[in-house]
Amino acid sequence: MARCLVTRSLPGTAVDRLAAEHEVEVWPQRLPPGRDVLGDRLAGGVEGLLCMLTDPVDAELIAAAPVLRAISTYAVGTDNIDLAAAAERGIPVGHTPDVLTETSADLALALMLAVMRRIPAGDAEVRAGEWLTWEPARLLGHDLHRATVGIVGLGRIGEAVKRRVEGFGARVVHSGRRDGIPVEQLLEESDVVTLHCPLTDQTRGLIDERALRRMGPDSYLVNTARGPVVDSDALGRALTEGWIAGAALDVTDPEPLPADHPLLEAPNLVVAPHLGSASHATRSEMSEIAVDNLLAGLAGESLPHQAN
Ligand code: DGY
Repeated sequence: MARCLVTRSLPGTAVDRLAAEHEVEVWPQRLPPGRDVLGDRLAGGVEGLLCMLTDPVDAELIAAAPVLRAISTYAVGTDNIDLAAAAERGIPVGHTPDVLTETSADLALALMLAVMRRIPAGDAEVRAGEWLTWEPARLLGHDLHRATVGIVGLGRIGEAVKRRVEGFGARVVHSGRRDGIPVEQLLEESDVVTLHCPLTDQTRGLIDERALRRMGPDSYLVNTARGPVVDSDALGRALTEGWIAGAALDVTDPEPLPADHPLLEAPNLVVAPHLGSASHATRSEMSEIAVDNLLAGLAGESLPHQAN
């Protein structure tokens, strides 16, 4: 029986399977445990860690975790974990790919359509009593079916977004590490740029002032990847000064975005609180996979989905 820490309460019943075999502490609060608590538990004998994308598990924490044997993150993205440091200690890191692909692609489309067709702006007008009558030239947006959509990162989620936007009649171009057109060309050709790349040293700040200035005044940016891929200050200026027509973000930098953050003053911005995988069915399946990964790691078996 190993000591395990689960850093948030998970949907579904998967954690019961973990608790049937191991001693499990589930962090009970809405906010993450924080570095001190995490460090304290890891130093104090936690062998199995089931963490969230909000828990930075860096080399220092890993080094100070004497008996840690397996890490399982409740996400596909692993940028919050030092995979190399874990591998050096022989600690396998599990993640949850595939299961959230279609759900995340649905959310990207929802955001794309919301910002292009100005749905939140219209909703706000109705609620504010500003919807006076049907007007020919009010709240006009742009059509997805006429658009060229530029997908940055044609991995699992990028491919799922491609299928969806092609179904709408859009033309697709893409840019990736191994194939596609250069990002600069994609930014210039696309009416919608949608980000589906992981956060790495190469993609951090990829969409900066230069990139945003390459996009046109009728173009849109959608980010459902990771917040730091986009320079938030530059995006605020791009929206305020009309370099682009709008942006829709499921991820932000910082995350969470404080309610008084200047980016929220920018026009034509739609923001969601990192809802990419947030459907009942997908989040429950993620719980099962995350627990399967941890159980396998603690049993010394290969993980069903190992990231390092
Ligand atoms: C992930 O799993 O990395 C997603 O961002 C969660 O929505």
